[in-house]
Amino acid sequence: MSQFDALISSAKVAREKAHAPFSNFKVGAALRTPSGRVYGGCNVENATYGLTVCAERVAIFKAISEGEREFDAIAVVTDTDTLTPPCGACRQLIWEFCGDVPVVMSNLQGKVEELRMSQLFPKPFDSSNL
Ligand code: THU
Repeated sequence: MSQFDALISSAKVAREKAHAPFSNFKVGAALRTPSGRVYGGCNVENATYGLTVCAERVAIFKAISEGEREFDAIAVVTDTDTLTPPCGACRQLIWEFCGDVPVVMSNLQGKVEELRMSQLFPKPFDSSNL
């Protein structure tokens, strides 16, 4: 048992809703607040490809639009042997809204890897640069 088991389970459930008819690559994410509330997200693809939104950003936008502003972890689940880290665009958004949180990557077989955002995104551009 780890403190992230429930968060990983939520990301798995969110993944089931993925709309990925073009890549067939289903992703689930789950974002946790300090009070323990969890917001799930899945990737939502589009026929133009470029308008696709990743699972992580869907989870962030859901939470932000519900008024949340503090987060303490994010989980990402895919059905791959090599666990899936957030893409560059999502790293920017996770950094801006969540800061140096643990990013917990997992697959359907229960493999888990945890990295902090400062490891995944070591030299960010953010509001401190403005
Ligand atoms: N994708 C995510 O949702 N999150 C990631 O961390 C990596 C990529 C999605 C975008 C697209 O729908 C599919 O995976 C293939 O790139």
